[in-house]
Amino acid sequence: METLNQPLVVTDLHKRYGGREVVAGISFALARGECFGLLGPNGAGKTTTLRCCLGLTGPDSGSISLVGEPIPARAREARARIGVVPQFDNLDPDFTAAENLLVFGRYFGIDDAAIRARIPRLLDFAGLSSKANAQIRELSGGMKRRLTLARALINDPDLLVLDEPTTGLDPQARHLIWERLQGLLAEGKTILLTTHFMEEAERLCHRLAIMDEGRIISEGTPQALIAEHIPVSPSPLRPSNLEDVFLKLTGHELRD
Ligand SMILES: Nc1ncnc2c1ncn2[C@@H]1O[C@H](COP(=O)(O)OP(=O)(O)OP(=O)(O)O)[C@@H](O)[C@H]1O
Ligand SMILES: [Mg+2]
Repeated sequence: METLNQPLVVTDLHKRYGGREVVAGISFALARGECFGLLGPNGAGKTTTLRCCLGLTGPDSGSISLVGEPIPARAREARARIGVVPQFDNLDPDFTAAENLLVFGRYFGIDDAAIRARIPRLLDFAGLSSKANAQIRELSGGMKRRLTLARALINDPDLLVLDEPTTGLDPQARHLIWERLQGLLAEGKTILLTTHFMEEAERLCHRLAIMDEGRIISEGTPQALIAEHIPVSPSPLRPSNLEDVFLKLTGHELRD
C-alpha cells in the first residue's frame, strides 16, 4: 500500500510569510526505511517545510500525507506515531532529564510503567545514563540536544523527523548519534533530517534534496549528486565531496 511504503508524501507545498513565499512549491516523498536529507543554506525553508509536514504551521497550498494521515487535518494522530527533534530544544525546565521523558510519554497516552521501563534504555541511547536526575538547567547544550533525541523515541516511532539533530554536539557526541541513527535505520526506521554537516548527510542519507529559496534545486543520492555536479575534484589533494556540490549549487554568498 502506498501509504505504508511512503511514510511522508509532500506535493507542491507552498508557504508564505508576510509577502514572501518561503516554501515555493516543493514535492518529495520518503520511502520506508530510508534516510532522506533536506539540505540548504540558512533561511532556505527547511524548518518551515518540516513544520508544515508536522501540522505545526498551516501550508497555503499543496498536500501532505504523513504516516498515511492527511496534514493538517489529522496532524495530532500522525504526530503520535512519529518522533520529532525540533531545531531548538523545548525541554521542560521544571523537570529532571528522566521526568522529561516521563511527561512526554504521558502526552502520548503511554502508561507510566511502560515509560519507566523505556527510560534507562533511552538515556543510555543518548549517553546520558548518569544524568537521569539532573535538572535541565544543569545540562550542557549538547546534553540537552541528546536528551531531545532520546525523547523523540519515547513512543517507539517508525518515522523520525530531525531538524539539525547534531548541531551543538562535540565530535564525540556527534559520532555517537550517527552510530545510534544508523542503528535505528538498521532496525527499519525511516528518518527525515536536516543538517548543515555535509559529512553527516553523506554518511547517513540514502537520498538528499538541496533546497534554496524555498525550492528543491537538486535531488539524488549523495554519490549521484557529486558525480553529476562535481565530476572533477576542485583540489588534486582530495576527491570531490558533498560540500563542493552544496557550494556550487547554492553559491558562496551569506544569506540574510
Ligand atoms: N514564523 C515566521 N514568521 C515570519 N517569517 C518566518 C517565520 N518562520 C520562518 N520565517 C522565514 O522563512 C524563511 C525560511 O525559514 P526557515 O526557518 O524555514 O529556514 P531554514 O532553512 O530552516 O534555515 P536554518 O538553516 O537557518 O535553520 C526565512 O526567511 C525566515 O526568516
Ligand atoms: Mg531551520
